[in-house]
Amino acid sequence: MDSVEAQLDPMDELPGSEDALAPGTKLLGGVYTIDRFLKSGGFGITYIAHDSLGRHVVIKECFPGAICARHNHSVVVRSRHSLGELAKVVNCFKLEVRALSRIAHKNIVKVHDVFDENDTAYMAMDLISGPDLLDVIDDRVEVLTPERVMDMLEQLLGALTHIHGMGMLHRDISPDNILLDDQGDPVLIDFGAAREESARKSRALSGLQIVKDGYSPQELYIKGAENAPTIDIYALGATFYHVITGDVPPDGNSRLLKIAEGQADPYESLIGRAPGYPDEFLRAVDKALRVLPRDRFQSAEEWRLFLDGKISNQGAEAAISTLMTWLDENPNTRVKTEPLPKREISKRPEFEKPKKITRQSYDESLLVDEETERRITSKTLRIIRSVISRPLGLEETRESDWLEDTVVEDGPQGLSVEYRIRRAAFWVIGLSLAVGAFHWPF
Ligand SMILES: Nc1ncnc2c1ncn2[C@@H]1O[C@H](COP(=O)(O)OP(=O)(O)OP(=O)(O)O)[C@@H](O)[C@H]1O
Ligand SMILES: [Mg+2]
Repeated sequence: MDSVEAQLDPMDELPGSEDALAPGTKLLGGVYTIDRFLKSGGFGITYIAHDSLGRHVVIKECFPGAICARHNHSVVVRSRHSLGELAKVVNCFKLEVRALSRIAHKNIVKVHDVFDENDTAYMAMDLISGPDLLDVIDDRVEVLTPERVMDMLEQLLGALTHIHGMGMLHRDISPDNILLDDQGDPVLIDFGAAREESARKSRALSGLQIVKDGYSPQELYIKGAENAPTIDIYALGATFYHVITGDVPPDGNSRLLKIAEGQADPYESLIGRAPGYPDEFLRAVDKALRVLPRDRFQSAEEWRLFLDGKISNQGAEAAISTLMTWLDENPNTRVKTEPLPKREISKRPEFEKPKKITRQSYDESLLVDEETERRITSKTLRIIRSVISRPLGLEETRESDWLEDTVVEDGPQGLSVEYRIRRAAFWVIGLSLAVGAFHWPF
């Protein structure tokens, strides 16, 4: 896709347009009018439309072509057996759109409306005026300077941190699902969770491709794969690998098979292949693209902090002095740490044997005492840990394991469970002794 104007112009018959609503069709009692068909995918048809105030919007219609057809304006099932399946798909679509409508982030497309009509459902969203990242890679790669690319990655990591924090995943990150707005900033569209759910619930749709070779991690090729942020981390890494090299990385499934056969991973590290990028930036993309989820960054935040720490490498001393200043200014903040369950990491099925890291060895890597640790913020703690663990050679270990088990609370309410139990036990024993002593002579 190029610009909006280019989309509005040609009237050529585009693939999939035969099922589309005709230009001029009104939706939601005339609130929206279809201007033109944009694209038909396996699960939906996308249109450019305008609203009653004349503003351009994009409308996506739930239209799983494998099980439905158009009759006048209505969406009808191809066979009676699919009636229930269509209802399930429409339901998944609506649930997903409702979840999306709660997201407010400048790098995620803004959803305005979801409504039922024509025996299906529709969503209306902002129209993003620029091209998608795939078109830019193909046609105008010269605009993708290292500075620009690094800035785009930072923005998208912010977007992922936001949606993951809301308990959602994108599940279909790829260059064609990232549009550039009029400032040239990246905007994520086309969340894939509803499609995945639909494919699971509908026999007729189960054959539809919900993985994207090159961008999907190996675990998505397996039915019922676990939902984890590391799925999006891999796909974002693959997207940036494509941006940086102009090539799609080898597909996740083949990589896994090769490794399982004892052959080398066909993935080629970016280090030394991308002039103009700091090695640490490239190393981070390599890490996001590791075959095993546990070897990747475990969160977008972790990836961001890795880049912060590495690229503006303050060093441990500077980080500790930041921490101390912060502590002086925020004496009431506490950090509560939950006990980390003992993990037998080395017993997990995998191809490389990782170092066995226990909570204790992590604690030893943090050079502040327990009392100090209780009073610092999560963010400062993470920075300190990421900086300090490096000189100790722990960077390839599972820092995130520890972080996942850290809960931060501000103010006096942030007392740890352990502390509360100890305090309760103190009172119970104390009172029993006091009562016992009082009754002693009788
Ligand atoms: N908010 C938007 N602004 C501008 N163009 C958009 C917008 N949303 C979608 N598009 C365009 O429509 C195309 C198709 O949209 P989208 O990616 O949502 O569906 P799809 O890839 O066809 O997926 P599926 O039908 O499988 O859900 C995009 O590639 C993009 O060019
Ligand atoms: Mg898409």
